[in-house]
Amino acid sequence: MSNHTPKSMDAIMSLCKRRGFVYQTSEIYGGINGFWDYGPLGAQLKKNLRDAWWQDVVMGPCWGRKGPNGRPVSVVPVDTTIIQHPKTWEASGHVAGFNDPMVDCRETKGRYRYDHVQVFVPASGERGDKPVFAYMGDTPSEAKQRKKAEKTFGEVTSVALSSLPQPWDRVIGPDAEKPGSLTEPRQFNLMFKTYVGATAGEDDKAYLRPETAQGIFAQAKNVWDTTRVKVPFGIAQTGKSFRNEVTPRNFTFRSREFEQMEIEFFCHESEALAWYAYWRDWRMEWWKSIGLAGDNLILREHEADELAHYSKATSDVEYRFPFSAPGYGELEGIAYRGNFDLSQHQKFSGVKMEYNDTERGEVLPNGSRRGERYVPHVIEPSAGLDRGVLAVLCEAYTKDESRPSPEFMKIHPRLAPIKAAIYPLVAKEGMPEVAEKLYEEIVQRFGRLGFIEFDEKQSIGKRYARMDEAGCPFCFTIDGETLTNQTVTVRSRDTGSQDRIGIDNVAGFLAEKLG
Ligand code: GAP
Repeated sequence: MSNHTPKSMDAIMSLCKRRGFVYQTSEIYGGINGFWDYGPLGAQLKKNLRDAWWQDVVMGPCWGRKGPNGRPVSVVPVDTTIIQHPKTWEASGHVAGFNDPMVDCRETKGRYRYDHVQVFVPASGERGDKPVFAYMGDTPSEAKQRKKAEKTFGEVTSVALSSLPQPWDRVIGPDAEKPGSLTEPRQFNLMFKTYVGATAGEDDKAYLRPETAQGIFAQAKNVWDTTRVKVPFGIAQTGKSFRNEVTPRNFTFRSREFEQMEIEFFCHESEALAWYAYWRDWRMEWWKSIGLAGDNLILREHEADELAHYSKATSDVEYRFPFSAPGYGELEGIAYRGNFDLSQHQKFSGVKMEYNDTERGEVLPNGSRRGERYVPHVIEPSAGLDRGVLAVLCEAYTKDESRPSPEFMKIHPRLAPIKAAIYPLVAKEGMPEVAEKLYEEIVQRFGRLGFIEFDEKQSIGKRYARMDEAGCPFCFTIDGETLTNQTVTVRSRDTGSQDRIGIDNVAGFLAEKLG
């Protein structure tokens, strides 16, 4: 299948359910919109992606590549709470500005992101007093409304709802029957609210964090005061974030509860653009390294009019998901945020966020430096873990009707939840015993990286097919020949090829392939 033919999202979602990658949250109660659970394989895949990020960002930053200052990159982790002091979100601008405009439908009670609603109008532009038909792209309402609009107007074209003057008394809402049911757009704050303590009054109101970043900013001063880090350095964190998205959709892509992997990299203003370019380029390479190579992955530099007022440069790593094709969806944003966030926290908390840089500033007569005090500038590479998992699943999904198992998941070996399967060809003639011994050895050596599968039931073809769908890169089969010449079959997921290697070489083979 060519990279350019969108894969079927339905087929991917169905495999994800069937093999235990992703389940709908609270499915037994009918689900809850915008929330997804991971099954055994999905939970391990997600952990492997998080671990890969942690390894390459925190334990061995940027694969040991030197930064633009010619020194190794320094990054330390934190783990901050989901509920922060409510003032955090005033300082960050989320209380006042983290809004999406929405319209409600009085007839169906549906709620839509105003800037996502489209309408079908006559291609000629002439609509007289006839209604127009609103829809949300990529949803069943699109096809339904198109059909109705074509029946009314013949040829139709699509425009944004926002381009129509209000009142919208002739607009038929998505899934509605009568015109005029859409309300004016209203701003809707995306932060989930909760109460801290038993009284649950206005003063106890708190928010579930909409990003992990602010916990990092709020602790930045503690980190540079209590550890030996020196600017330039980064603070990294992974964890859950929550956004009450108006229209969660496209499987896990836009969820209401999701996990982020964020870095705030602090530097002197004079070096900020060089660090920005460094992180932008390395983050793109990192996504490629875990299997998102090819033209499904792009780096998109924002235009000047897309930038937040405090940002001097931002780019996004974007992936061409089946539902966004031929367009792309954001996986990670890399933003040069100036020193906006630290300055805001300084203003709202009254605590100085200045760093004393003893490697800069005036040289004193004794040769030492006076030090320069400044609020560091920040480069923020902010990635979505769930979106990363979704991109990996979409990229991995491969259909090949010529194979006995036509669907398989080409997951990068570093991320594969099952690293290897050890199979006796049949459950007799001493094969299970040899297989079990090999299994124990492989679990000892590689079990910390993911699951090792052992199974002696079903035909070998069925067992291979199951591992193909689970994305297990290699199966090792113990057969009659093993008992005579100490060799096993290695069956490769990607090619379906079967080769023989010595049973003593299985661990070495895996060590080389799994890295
Ligand atoms: N601190 C900056 C920040 O949070 P963002 O672009 O809003 O920036 C960063 O979010 C990343 O988090 C996105 O690139 C995306 O991968 C992920 N993300 C954001 N909203 C999401 C949602 N509703 N569902 C899943 N992932 C989301």
